[in-house]
Amino acid sequence: MLTAKRILLVIGGGIAAYKSLELIRRLQDRGAKVRAILTRAGAEFVTPLSVGSLTGDKVFQELFSLTDENEMGHIELSRDADLLVVAPATADLMAKMAHGHANDLASTALLATDKRILAAPAMNVRMWLHPATQRNVGILKGDGVTFVGPNAGGMACGEFGPGRMAEVPEIIAAIEAMMVDPAVSRPLAGHRVLVTSGPTREAIDPVRYISNHSSGKQGHAIAKAAAEAGADVTLVTGPVGVADPVGVTVVKVESARDMLAAVDAALPASIAIFAAAVADWRVADIAGGKLKKGPDGPPALSFVENPDILATVARHGTKRPRLVVGFAAETENVVDNARAKLARKGCDLIVANDVATGTGTFGGDANTVHLVSSEGVETWARQSKDEVARALVAHLARRLAGA
Ligand code: CTP
Repeated sequence: MLTAKRILLVIGGGIAAYKSLELIRRLQDRGAKVRAILTRAGAEFVTPLSVGSLTGDKVFQELFSLTDENEMGHIELSRDADLLVVAPATADLMAKMAHGHANDLASTALLATDKRILAAPAMNVRMWLHPATQRNVGILKGDGVTFVGPNAGGMACGEFGPGRMAEVPEIIAAIEAMMVDPAVSRPLAGHRVLVTSGPTREAIDPVRYISNHSSGKQGHAIAKAAAEAGADVTLVTGPVGVADPVGVTVVKVESARDMLAAVDAALPASIAIFAAAVADWRVADIAGGKLKKGPDGPPALSFVENPDILATVARHGTKRPRLVVGFAAETENVVDNARAKLARKGCDLIVANDVATGTGTFGGDANTVHLVSSEGVETWARQSKDEVARALVAHLARRLAGA
């Protein structure tokens, strides 16, 4: 898979640097050619001799080394690689990368490159969680740097939490994923995808509302997976606690009617996926002022039905996306109800999930789904919402391509 691929490995200064020695071997097993830059701090943890013995090449260490510059200049070093891997990526190295510093060979090579960069962070949990590091990670992700890890667990310093460098097989998997043909790994390149997510809030008065328990985890994961598949993604979301996915246009709304307007504005799209738990009803007369307790007892609320966003888009005529996908949150007769919903809403596919009490689907991290379409029912084994998202995006990409 990595035959003849040239990887420039930047080894930063951290106890996890010992894993980078193993990484060199496993990359070579897969046919890759590895060159290494060892930072001054990195050389405190692994010796240039061990790195050089494994790469079978010179270990690059100094920016202003006359011999190095004569053999291969630092610009050529980073340009010559197919991929740059920073492992361990220390807090200091990431800060330099985020802010464009170029005061040693590693930071200069990372700034001078026009190739993709994979970073495997490794540091103390407090350093990782510090707002400065998290800010730098956000900047780097925005710049297109891919991250693998860090993992949570016990640390060399005796603390526990996220900060351990990803294991070698995980780093290899991330490298292989970045190396595959873009046409295969980014099957939705050139397509627009619209996703709705989260609950809606329907106002009762200026301070109260009716809503539901939707966490937005599944919808947000789908938006992220579609963006990773190369799509230009707009995510229209109700109020949720999960972070905005990177590389996605996020439109934040409150009510079902706001959501419909935002969805309409985001069309046309090749695929529209409606994962939001839209409130079916809204209060008929939203009170202009806060409702007060009084001698007449509790207020009587009357409701009117909200527009059905999915059904509206599915029947849009010329603006109808080629694939319209609905979700069905059911507590009983999951597949039968989903079949009825497919017909009623006029969509191409219903992703049905069981949200009955005890399944842990609402707000949880895992989901068991059934894909219901005119072609039949496909039931997927229970998996994480991220995995459901990636599998669904791959399924839709195949359908779009007519496979
Ligand atoms: N949906 C929507 N707009 C609405 C209601 C639902 O876009 N006003 C979408 C949801 O995003 C989901 C699908 O329709 O993709 C199914 O929603 P669900 O609430 O499960 O179904 P309902 O149509 O409300 O049917 P019922 O309440 O009978 O289960």
